[in-house]
Amino acid sequence: MADASAVTFSKDQGQIVKESSQILKPNMAETSIKFLLNIFEIAPAAIGMFSFLRDSSVPLEKNAKLKAHALIIFKRANPLSSLASSLPGIRG
Ligand code: HEM
Repeated sequence: MADASAVTFSKDQGQIVKESSQILKPNMAETSIKFLLNIFEIAPAAIGMFSFLRDSSVPLEKNAKLKAHALIIFKRANPLSSLASSLPGIRG
């Protein structure tokens, strides 16, 4: 596994991460569910992995549990969040 502390960025790359993080932050809820819906488009079988989607008649994009999980992904695991928080002047 790569050592995250060994990752370095050029000035331009750092700037791109900062800008991306700032763009994503206010739209986190919307972007995170779109991210999961994209996965489902590419791999529809993934929908069946979620117990609460199997028998649900609520549209995917309106499912509160799915939206909550999508936010978890972005808040806790979005590489931008963790990278951004390791850059000077950025909070993930
Ligand atoms: C790396 C980012 C991710 C994190 C941190 C994460 C975290 C979690 C957590 C904490 C749970 C426990 C239940 C909950 O709170 O919803 C969970 C459940 C689950 N996650 Fe993730 N998850 C991630 C990515 C994904 C992705 C990309 C998928 C598939 C597209 C996925 C599929 C599932 C499924 C199927 C469950 C079980 C849901 C259920 O049936 O109750 N997760 N995940």
